[in-house]
Amino acid sequence: MSGAELVGSRRVEPSILSADYSQLGAELETVMTAGARLIHVDVMDGHFVPPITIGPVIVESIRDQVRAGGGGLDCHLMVEEPERHVQQFADAGADSITVHCEASGDIAAVLAQIREAGCLAGLAINPATPAEAVADFAGKADLIVCMTVNPGWGGQSFIEGSLEKVARLRELIGADLPLQVDGGIGAETAGATAAAGATLFVAGSAVFKADDPTAAYRGIAAAAKAQ
Ligand code: DX5
Ligand code: ZN
Repeated sequence: MSGAELVGSRRVEPSILSADYSQLGAELETVMTAGARLIHVDVMDGHFVPPITIGPVIVESIRDQVRAGGGGLDCHLMVEEPERHVQQFADAGADSITVHCEASGDIAAVLAQIREAGCLAGLAINPATPAEAVADFAGKADLIVCMTVNPGWGGQSFIEGSLEKVARLRELIGADLPLQVDGGIGAETAGATAAAGATLFVAGSAVFKADDPTAAYRGIAAAAKAQ
């Protein structure tokens, strides 16, 4: 499936940030068998956010498995100077690359760079950033990401005020652009964010830390009326 087809449908995206890296292949197989096609990869640089997490070598190592299952990789770059890293993630097999509008550098130029590299360009905004910030990038992004926790860690609680922000973002971007929610998404929050206008639902701990990740994935997908 193409990147555009992947992000164009309503989907739950398991975030491997909460997976067991000692058996990443098996973890991916579980969620893809449950129905997941978009896999969310949280990249943190120790500067934009305090932790350091996943780099392009992991993307490259899981690319073939994810593609063989008809899926794609959605790389969320929580990094400063994202322009320095876009090409490496594209070469490693990213289907979409999201950058933060709060990151240093010329974000409009980075979005263009992502598209030139053959990937879909995502634009993320932090909880403290007003929804109106996306207006500066109209037509330059293929998906918008509303952070529903402060970026940096999995397992945080959904910030309640986010529902109004999701609705406002949907109003600003129109009906067609994919709108992702990221952080604190589980079966309890997926339905409300879907009703507010979200179409892509990142879920890390709610899937991978569950006793039964398959049932957890399906529960979130059902709540979001996603595939
Ligand atoms: C947070 C990351 C999220 C994280 C979500 O900085 O961007 O993608 O993995 O984790 P949960 O679903 O546990 O909130
Ligand atoms: Zn993320």
